[in-house]
Parts: sequence; C-alpha cells; structure tokens
Amino acid sequence: MPVSDSAIERVREFWNRRPCNVRHSKKPAGTKEYFDEVEHRKYFVEPHIPGFADFQRWKGKRVLEIGCGIGTDTVNFARHGAWITAVDLSEKSLEIASKRAAVYGLEDRIRFFHADAEELSRFVTVEPYDLVYSFGVIHHTPGPERVVRQIRSYLPPGGTVKIMVYHRFSWKALWILLVYGRGQFWKAGEIIARYSEAQEGSPVTYTYTPLEIGRLLKEHGFRVVETRVEHIFPYRIPDYTQHRYVKVWYFRWMPQRFFRYLEKRLGWHLCVTAVREEGES
Ligand SMILES: C[S@@+](CC[C@H](N)C(=O)[O-])C[C@H]1O[C@@H](n2cnc3c(N)ncnc32)[C@H](O)[C@@H]1O
Repeated sequence: MPVSDSAIERVREFWNRRPCNVRHSKKPAGTKEYFDEVEHRKYFVEPHIPGFADFQRWKGKRVLEIGCGIGTDTVNFARHGAWITAVDLSEKSLEIASKRAAVYGLEDRIRFFHADAEELSRFVTVEPYDLVYSFGVIHHTPGPERVVRQIRSYLPPGGTVKIMVYHRFSWKALWILLVYGRGQFWKAGEIIARYSEAQEGSPVTYTYTPLEIGRLLKEHGFRVVETRVEHIFPYRIPDYTQHRYVKVWYFRWMPQRFFRYLEKRLGWHLCVTAVREEGES
C-alpha cells in the first residue's frame, strides 16, 4: 500500500487530538487521583493486560515500549523494576505520560522519546533490549511492517517481543459492521477503521488474523511462542462514557463461562509473544 508522509501526520494529529484513554477519569487531569483512576478503569475493562505484559518478569530488565500513549503500562513496567524506554508519535500523549512518571516518582526508570516507530533508529539509539512491548499501536501506523523491521534491530537473538494488534474475525469488528456499516462488508476496512476507537475517524486501523500477524513476525525473523485472543467489551457505551458499568442485555444474561469462551475466539485483541531467532540483525 503506497503511503505518503501526510498519512503519518494524520495519525499524529488524531492521537494528539485525544490521547488514548485520556477520558478514563473525571478527576483533575495530571493528579495522582486522575492517573490512579485511569489505570483502574483500563485494567478493569482490559483485565488481560497485566497477564500479557507480565510486568514482574521484567524486573531489572531493559524494556522498549513502542506507542506508550499516556503511559499506563509504562509506569507499571517501571514500578515493577524495569528500565524502560518509551516512544510515541503524539507529543500530547508523551506530555501526559511524562507527567505521570513524575507523579509516581518513576522518572529515573523511564526515558521518553518523541518518535515515529517506523523510523525508530533515527530517534532512539539502537542497543539491545530484553523486551520490546507494543500494545495496540502497530495497526495504527501506515507501515506496520516497517515497525516490525525496526523492532528486530533492538532485540538480540532470544529477546522477546510482545505486541497486541486488532483481530479481524472478532465480535467488535462484526458489531461495527452491523451497527455502523449496516452490513456493508465490502467496505469492512474503511468502516472498521472509522469506528475502531473512542474518537471517531482513526486515519489508520488495520486488523489481522492470527496467521497474518504470525507471518509478519516470521518474515522478520521472529518465532511466535504464544497467541492469545482476548477482550470483548460487554458494556453499554452511553453508560460507560458516564463511568457506569452496565452490561448490554445479552451479555448480562450470558453465563460467564460462555462469555470467556467467546472472548477466546472472537476477542478484539490478538496478543502475540514472539522471540527473535538467531541470524543477522
Ligand atoms: C491505541 S493507542 C495505545 C497507547 C498505549 N499503548 C495504550 O495501550 O494505552 C495508540 C498509540 O500509538 C501511537 N502511534 C501510532 N503510530 C505510531 C508510530 N508510527 N510511532 C509511534 N507511535 C505511534 C499513537 O500516538 C497512540 O498513542
């Protein structure tokens, strides 16, 4: 797909307009109470994140986070003792994330960089990391394969990459297509992108099958060790935006075990862990 510089510019503007999860709290922005609530809400609705990131495993290790947003996972890696380098394209997100690191007294463990991950080595010195982590990011950049190529150069053989990308054959994708797209499946890519985020009109949102993301990683010298499908959002959106957690009627009546069964097959988050194979950088 041909990509112009203005595509990355549109991505930057989109996330500057409304950084990811910035409305997760109504407390005064930038306070400890605000950040505590943002984190609580994020991990309440996306409870698979701590298990996937496995924060405690990276104690004393070097972590490179691509697309840190406002830093929810970033501060958790740091809190658990990792040394973390965090980058994002959105200055506004980085401003909030830096403030957050200061609020929790974690500045000495985190280095922030304003960078386009597609050209990461122009901004961040290439050196070995133990983990490269990127949650919900590479499907929002025009050239995800360029980011994966960059990731490879920051990992020695045996190093781990953990990425989350959106799952094409998911409940959410189907729901968007039926509710917003009125069944126009032939325009799936465009419609899913437009409605994929809390803020309408994401300029870039790709979706993947487990096979596709596995292939992308393999092509760049990674061996996939685990792929988990997670996350169906069960709440009524009008209530959720008012910070009330009321499930949609069919999820209210659905047995929890069946809901988990569905999540494992039709979840929106494809959480992939891979290791770098031996070979040239
Ligand atoms: C959905 S948010 C996820 C943020 C964070 N990982 C989280 O889970 O809260 C996507 C983030 O990716 C960033 N992003 C998109 N394309 C990028 C690129 N090429 N380089 C760096 N960051 C990028 C956006 O600025 C945004 O902050």
